[in-house]
Amino acid sequence: MNFLDKLKQFRDYEEKLKWEGTFADYLELVKQNPVIAQSAHSRIYQMIVSAGVTEKDGHKYYHFFDGQIYGLEEAIERLVEEYFHPAAKRLDVKKRILLLMGPVSGGKSTIVTLLKRGLENYSWTDEGAIYAIKGCPMHEDPLHLIPTHLREDFFQETGIRVEGNLSPLNAMRLEKDYDGKIEKVPVERIFLSEDKRVGIGTFSPSDPKSQDIADLTGSIDFSTIAEFGSESDPRAYRFDGELNKANRGLMEFQEMLKCDEKFLWHLLSLTQEGNFKAGRFALISADELIVAHTNETEYRTFISNKKNEALHSRMIVMPVPYNLRVSDEEKIYQKLISESDVADVHVAPHALRTAAVFSILTRLKESKSRGIDLVKKMRLYDGEIVEGYHAADIKELRNEFSDEGMGGIDPRYVINRISSAIIKKGVPSINALDILRSIKEGLDQHPSISEEDRERFTGFIATARREYDEMAKREVQKAFVYSFEESAKTLMDNYLDNVEAYCNSNKIFDPITGDEVDPDEKLMRSIEEQIGISENAKKAFREEILIRISAYARKGKRFNYQSHERLREAIQKKLFADLKDVVKITTSSKTPDETQLKRINEVITRLVDEYGYNSTSANELLRYVGSLLNR
Ligand SMILES: Nc1ncnc2c1ncn2[C@@H]1O[C@H](COP(=O)(O)OP(=O)(O)OP(=O)(O)O)[C@@H](O)[C@H]1O
Ligand SMILES: [Mg+2]
Repeated sequence: MNFLDKLKQFRDYEEKLKWEGTFADYLELVKQNPVIAQSAHSRIYQMIVSAGVTEKDGHKYYHFFDGQIYGLEEAIERLVEEYFHPAAKRLDVKKRILLLMGPVSGGKSTIVTLLKRGLENYSWTDEGAIYAIKGCPMHEDPLHLIPTHLREDFFQETGIRVEGNLSPLNAMRLEKDYDGKIEKVPVERIFLSEDKRVGIGTFSPSDPKSQDIADLTGSIDFSTIAEFGSESDPRAYRFDGELNKANRGLMEFQEMLKCDEKFLWHLLSLTQEGNFKAGRFALISADELIVAHTNETEYRTFISNKKNEALHSRMIVMPVPYNLRVSDEEKIYQKLISESDVADVHVAPHALRTAAVFSILTRLKESKSRGIDLVKKMRLYDGEIVEGYHAADIKELRNEFSDEGMGGIDPRYVINRISSAIIKKGVPSINALDILRSIKEGLDQHPSISEEDRERFTGFIATARREYDEMAKREVQKAFVYSFEESAKTLMDNYLDNVEAYCNSNKIFDPITGDEVDPDEKLMRSIEEQIGISENAKKAFREEILIRISAYARKGKRFNYQSHERLREAIQKKLFADLKDVVKITTSSKTPDETQLKRINEVITRLVDEYGYNSTSANELLRYVGSLLNR
């Protein structure tokens, strides 16, 4: 389908969803489908849940944030369970301001943006449909028209609780235009849109001298006072502040605690009673989620001021820490790079992972109760198997510090350093070492990093580099063995034949000479020594392997090179050891001879075709590993 057809299709779809009728018609809709009368908080919760929830190990994962937010599953679970869910049930928390508190670039704004965009889209669905009094600048809930004394009856009949008073403007229109007959008041379906200022608003603090409370709650329209005769005529008031416009949806309060006090005081009645004051009118009921964000320093200053106590007790503070898992951090970088103008630059394999190792290390805290070093802790958090530790240990470690992840290096810093490395290098290809170098330079120039942190962070760069060295060596060695799996399998089969003969005191058939010979002790030992099996322990080890093989055979499973963890390690190491010299000579020779050159080209081709390198990064890798092996 071409673009113009799509456009038309969308317009038709829009037309189809439009609805207009009287309040009486609307009541019929509500009876058929009560969900349309839900509160803003309930709609947001339903929106999150409708994207899918997975339960695992006693935790809930909300898929609404998939692909955009990584590694914050626990913070999000808490956010939903402790705020959105109870708020949806009309519990008191819904009147509170939701305050996301966390370190810079930790994803707070991203979470809010996801909620906003999500809500816009959700309002186009059947379950997320929203209706409002037609022409109301605040898109007021039509059910507010129901007089207070009839609401109990309405509840008995429909099971729907009506909260909130009819706003002054609609109260006046009801009397003047519809003779007080609520069933005649027109109602329409609305679609939330931040651009059109329907149900989604953003308030950000600016210069307190020039910023007016009108930005939040609207203002008198002086040009109409003559027409309506008085400032307290609601028709002479523009209900166009962010709080007004965000009614039925969500208002984001950016950098809330940077805001001038007079704005914050204004929020008191909102957080207490769920309504706010505008102009000279009775309180206006607000059906909206107010979500603010701030960093820890500002938050501490705020709560240390006694004057703020009242407001503080009416906020729900939810921590949004940094992600603490290396593989998730890597995904964050991938996402940020794909969204940036360096998206087409080649990033060598392991480069982002190496940067992620560094970032996570800066965020972790040294455990006091358990003697675990930071690198092991990092691995454990990332779901790797670390000898001597179990899942229960992760829980214990995570509970040791409540503020782990509230400090350290932020993802934006790393992305900035990557961009700067790309520009500096001038080649559209970047590797782990380029990134680490750039991070290091950045630290030296960074004004807000303390001397102590700088030293610590420099140490983490060295650690990340060591981790990378290991990965790089393994990668090159693997690329040198033509079909690594194949060679590993051949070597293992050979080893197993010998082990079998050894354990059964048999001879072994030599395929070349056709003779029966003794098992090759030298070969077996050369493999076993790789994982430190002593002469005394070799018999037990060999027997254990045979037992494993027969256990596999009984279950009808094939024993292969992956079946025995330690044997696999031994085989790999043996292959690498045999290869080391070849790699060393080939990669570090300044004037490679013809066979060496051929070998190098083969390896580079393999790195490019199978391992995700390009020719620049493959050459850089070979040169680097060559220098490592020669140290
Ligand atoms: N856990 C995360 N998962 C995915 N992306 C993340 C995560 N943390 C940060 N980011 C990305 O990093 C960038 C900065 O995040 P964002 O602007 O949301 O942070 P913030 O907490 O609002 O920061 P600030 O305090 O500086 O306003 C965004 O592009 C965001 O997508
Ligand atoms: Mg932000």
